[in-house]
Amino acid sequence: MEREAIVQLRNVTKKIGLKTIIDNVSFTIGKGKVFGLLGPNGAGKTSIIRMMVGLSSITSGEITIKGASVRRDYARAIKHVGAIVENPDMYKFMSGYQNLLHSARMLPDVNRKRVKEVVALVGLEKSIHQKVKTYSLGMRQRLGIAQSLLHRPAVLILDEPTNGLDPAGIRELRDHLRQLADVDGTSVIVSSHLLAEMELMCDEIAIIQEGKLVDVRSLQDMIRNDAVDATVTFEVNEVENANALLANAFPTLPSSVINDTLRVQMSKDQIPTVISALVHAGISIFQVKTATPTLEEKFLQITRGEYSA
Ligand SMILES: Nc1ncnc2c1ncn2[C@@H]1O[C@H](COP(=O)(O)OP(=O)(O)OP(=O)(O)O)[C@@H](O)[C@H]1O
Ligand SMILES: [Mg+2]
Repeated sequence: MEREAIVQLRNVTKKIGLKTIIDNVSFTIGKGKVFGLLGPNGAGKTSIIRMMVGLSSITSGEITIKGASVRRDYARAIKHVGAIVENPDMYKFMSGYQNLLHSARMLPDVNRKRVKEVVALVGLEKSIHQKVKTYSLGMRQRLGIAQSLLHRPAVLILDEPTNGLDPAGIRELRDHLRQLADVDGTSVIVSSHLLAEMELMCDEIAIIQEGKLVDVRSLQDMIRNDAVDATVTFEVNEVENANALLANAFPTLPSSVINDTLRVQMSKDQIPTVISALVHAGISIFQVKTATPTLEEKFLQITRGEYSA
């Protein structure tokens, strides 16, 4: 598939005083992708987003949105962006609809028809004429998204959008974002410290740790690469012999005997070779089990610094 870069970060660094908050971060976000910034508290997710939307300055490097530099051509860059970074401004004594009309009036080319469209997009039709002060957190969240979508941005940026939402709310949000990306071709950027959530929501995930980009992976890659370092457990007769044989034939593969089974670390494509060597040596194999690390384990490894990309 053609990959049109909508958002691009090149060697972005942010320093506050002597502290480097964001350190030389580069990545590209394609059209119609849901892109996740994943990292523990204090990793720098919000700092990256604040620079993207011009809420904070970029110390060095470059952020472009549809080719326009946030630093040098802010007006042209930001017109493609809809974002919720801090709590969106809403008048609580007005209805959701009145709030949207109010915002629409400040935007060129946004009419009532568009207001209706965004209300439908976030599924707020039923409560849009209620006062915002009666809204639940999830409803406010959706109203905020509707507001940020009014001007048909190419990029929607949401900092920790699932914060405070219940599982049903998170699911709905996910469906809305997926629809925006797939149907409207909007590029969506979300942040979170929860891998499981990002895994369900995103096409690509950038892992941030202490201001540095540790890894960017498409979700497909992550799932595929999980097989790379598999732990394979063989149930065999003559387990000690089998272990000695492997140590001899494949000295680079860590193997051990645990609970009368032979445990070997290897990549998936090595499994047939190892099986065939065991069979040739006259060892009977009763069972082969492959355990691959989950994304969660991988993320924990990455954030503990045990894993290098
Ligand atoms: N104005 C500031 N002055 C000094 N340090 C700051 C400032 N803003 C952020 N930081 C530091 O930058 C680092 C990254 O913070 P940031 O808020 O971007 O993290 P985060 O990934 O969004 O975390 P969280 O998951 O808690 O929202 C932290 O160490 C934080 O203390
Ligand atoms: Mg944050």
